[in-house]
Amino acid sequence: FFPEHGNYLALDLGGTNFRVLVVKVRSSRRRSVRMYNKIYAIPLEIMQGTGEELFDHIVQCISDFLDYMGMKNTCLPLGFTFSFPCRQTGIDKGTLVSWTKGFKATDCEGNDMVEMLREAIKRRNEFDLDIVALVNDTVGTMMTCAYEDPKCEIGLIVGTGCNVCYMEEMTNIETAEGDEGHMCINTEWGGFGENGELDDIRTRFDREVDEGSLNVGKQTFEKMTSGMYLGEIVRQILIDLTRRGLLFRGRITERLKTMIKHVALVQTDRLALLQVRSILQHLGLDSTCDDSIIVKEVCGTVSRRAAQLCGAADGASNKASRTKAKAAPTTDPLCPVSAPRSFSSILKETVGELAPKCNVSFVLSEDGSGKGAALITAVARSLGDRPIDKYLYAMRFSDETLLDIMNRFKREMENGLGKDTNPTATVKMLPTFVRSIPDGSEKGDFIALDLGGSNFRILRVKVSHEKRQTVQMESQIYDTPEDIMHGSGTRLFDHVAECLGDFMEKQKIKDKKLPVGFTFSFPCAQTKLDEGILLTWTKRFKASGVEGADVVKLLNKAIKKRGVILVNDTVGTMMTCGFDDQRCEVGIIIGTGTNACYMEELRHIDLVEGDEGRMCINTEWGAFGDDGMLEDIRTEFDREIDRGSLNPGKQLFEKMVSGMYMGELVRLILVKMAKEGMLFEGRITPELLTKGKFETKHVSAIEKTKEGLSKAKEILTRLGVEPSHEDCVAVQHVCAVVSFRSANLIAATLGAILLRLKDNKGSPRLRTTVGVDGSLYKMHPHYARRLHKTVRRLVPESDVRFLLSESGSGKGAAMVTAVAYRLAEQSRQIAQTLAEFQLTKAQLLEVKERMRAEIQRGLSKETHELASVKMLPTFVRRTPDGTGKRGQKYQLSNLQIFQI
Ligand code: BG6
Ligand code: BG6
Ligand code: GLC
Ligand code: GLC
Repeated sequence: FFPEHGNYLALDLGGTNFRVLVVKVRSSRRRSVRMYNKIYAIPLEIMQGTGEELFDHIVQCISDFLDYMGMKNTCLPLGFTFSFPCRQTGIDKGTLVSWTKGFKATDCEGNDMVEMLREAIKRRNEFDLDIVALVNDTVGTMMTCAYEDPKCEIGLIVGTGCNVCYMEEMTNIETAEGDEGHMCINTEWGGFGENGELDDIRTRFDREVDEGSLNVGKQTFEKMTSGMYLGEIVRQILIDLTRRGLLFRGRITERLKTMIKHVALVQTDRLALLQVRSILQHLGLDSTCDDSIIVKEVCGTVSRRAAQLCGAADGASNKASRTKAKAAPTTDPLCPVSAPRSFSSILKETVGELAPKCNVSFVLSEDGSGKGAALITAVARSLGDRPIDKYLYAMRFSDETLLDIMNRFKREMENGLGKDTNPTATVKMLPTFVRSIPDGSEKGDFIALDLGGSNFRILRVKVSHEKRQTVQMESQIYDTPEDIMHGSGTRLFDHVAECLGDFMEKQKIKDKKLPVGFTFSFPCAQTKLDEGILLTWTKRFKASGVEGADVVKLLNKAIKKRGVILVNDTVGTMMTCGFDDQRCEVGIIIGTGTNACYMEELRHIDLVEGDEGRMCINTEWGAFGDDGMLEDIRTEFDREIDRGSLNPGKQLFEKMVSGMYMGELVRLILVKMAKEGMLFEGRITPELLTKGKFETKHVSAIEKTKEGLSKAKEILTRLGVEPSHEDCVAVQHVCAVVSFRSANLIAATLGAILLRLKDNKGSPRLRTTVGVDGSLYKMHPHYARRLHKTVRRLVPESDVRFLLSESGSGKGAAMVTAVAYRLAEQSRQIAQTLAEFQLTKAQLLEVKERMRAEIQRGLSKETHELASVKMLPTFVRRTPDGTGKRGQKYQLSNLQIFQI
């Protein structure tokens, strides 16, 4: 966006001068920027007094300036160049890390400088200002020069202090949210050496200068390079040389003993000897011609080292930017006015030597940083002023908000797992009866059906096991027309059966009885693997008579088979990835819909009996927020999406993040923007107003780094609007905000699962693998990276590997089926073996009858010979005579035996 027409106020505090400026931006036919400024003194006692005094003084100067300009009655936007290290959390927020250079006002370090200025303005109660941006002087300088030369991407200050800023790619900045494009980094390289990195090249003079400074031990590099200290280094050397009788005939004057706070001495490097002598005279030093030559040399040496150090440090940042950009960029470090000429030529020479492959040109900032700060303010204001940015603003979350969402989801999971809380829980946490990931011993030939994602797919999965386990897959995609998705359940399952018939015919396996794994990507309540009651349709499906019914039964009926194993797509994905990585214990889908499953300890799953081992839980996190839990972060666009959906009030989290809704979300925002005249010059076409015309794949195309803008143009042109370049940039921005929100929200819910896994294991760090699938995750150019980055930030105590499922859930479903069949076959065979030992009553009666018959045969004379029960006489004729009880008992038990 080009800065808007208007007047902007700028403050420039922290260099040699404190300056107040008005910058007038005129953007009619020819863009023009005019500046008016006044310099004000800041007395030493104010620089080192209290913070309140300092800011009151600043506001007094502003008041004077506004009077002078006659602008007191307008609330001007203000850009505040503040040349000290600030930790910024937004363009208009920054806490002072520590004072540097000559400032040391109390009660400022650790406080927000913008707030302190605002309070001082309030205290004065004379005028109002809208403080829009806080800007370091390096950044202001870079922006000033970039206004003339857009290739400028480095800002260098070598003045009172020394510092550099440059444009870094967002992907490399882990400390700020966001991934697109670039952000300027204020290096604060003046602090380099505070940890001893420069100890070997620091001299005793550097140490003395440090000891006499306001910030001992700090800003080591700055103290070797910048204007505030070079004069002092020179003075220390001169004293030393004089003490040793090498200068001024050994006479040290009082003036030489006191600190010299400016760079006058160093600048003598450029002067004629005569002038050097007059400066020395001014310092009360009676010098000879030789003395002047020596002083000149000392100055030259000190400033040369400073220039070389700056050149070396700059060379380092150039190298970094070259490797990042892959091609050598033209970089423009900037030199402020107060550095001597020779300094800049040494600087350039050193940069040239140390970074030979960089084509660097140096541009001197003639206008100071104030202009740059005003331009930043103008741009920030023009963006911030758009009401649409307010909507988009509500879609950007701080890490604090994301951690809050993570905690909410953690509680939802606990509710879903608890016996008493489950019936009313929104996140259902469905047990899947899958107890482990594949162990590598699975084998067999399977059919997998994969229904519910963007494609209906049928697969044949052959798992063989010779030495190594290998999987062969063949698959075909079948169309599922909308009228079938929305018709009767019977028709839907008949359609599945027809497609399966076709597939088996083509595969020539019509007569084979292959086990079927059914990936059904909808929430099903399971009590075993081969049963599942559909709780509710989600996404694009709405067939009648299926909700509340067992989908396995419906499928069995349609395909006239038995023994189908039911698997959610998240579970299939986890199993597919678990095949390659045994550590995989989470599966997530970010596609048409979104969902996750993970391995939970059985002892925490109240709904399933048993305490030992683990079971995979299908969270059905798409329903997160259905009880109002996310109302504070839902926008008017989310509500509109929900109203127009097949399942209003349901799957509210899914509708904020998944592929089925993302394009539509962007479309709604664009319509709103166009209606308010902020896009397409207010033109709205019937195509733009048609639901579904802007698809999620368009979001992915528009966000592509290189061709994104031309894709935007192409796509928007197809919608009938004639987009300007600015329109394309704005649309890209909207896409980025919406898809970023999605990745951030998923990072929060996934973060909660990871924390749970970590707690379950009771280990201080979690090492785990997450299997991922889904078209949005796969096709969007930045989604995966953003998700990974945010997860790592939200759960720093984890090492997470994200594994992309290349072969879909079908393979995983086959694995689950294989395990189930292996276990079923195992128990079948055992049961079969043991079954022979189990006699029925009839069998026993039969045995009794046969035995009785045989006994008869054995006793009878004719049959005796042939009887199997021989009934041999023993010739023992008497049993004990009854005096002993044992005999009686024996008789009794004999009797009993025969009575069976
Ligand atoms: C000025 C900038 O030109 O240079 C200031 O406007 C900056 O923002 C200054 O701080 C740095 O140089 P010196 O020598 O004034 O510290
Ligand atoms: C596929 C899986 O790869 O991804 C499906 O095989 C799953 O089971 C799908 O449903 C999810 O992605 P999408 O984008 O098709 O919804
Ligand atoms: C000091 C400040 C830094 C500033 C530089 C140049 O190093 O810490 O913020 O950019 O001086 O003025
Ligand atoms: C929906 C379904 C869920 C599925 C997900 C991803 O959220 O309810 O079961 O896993 O989409 O396809």
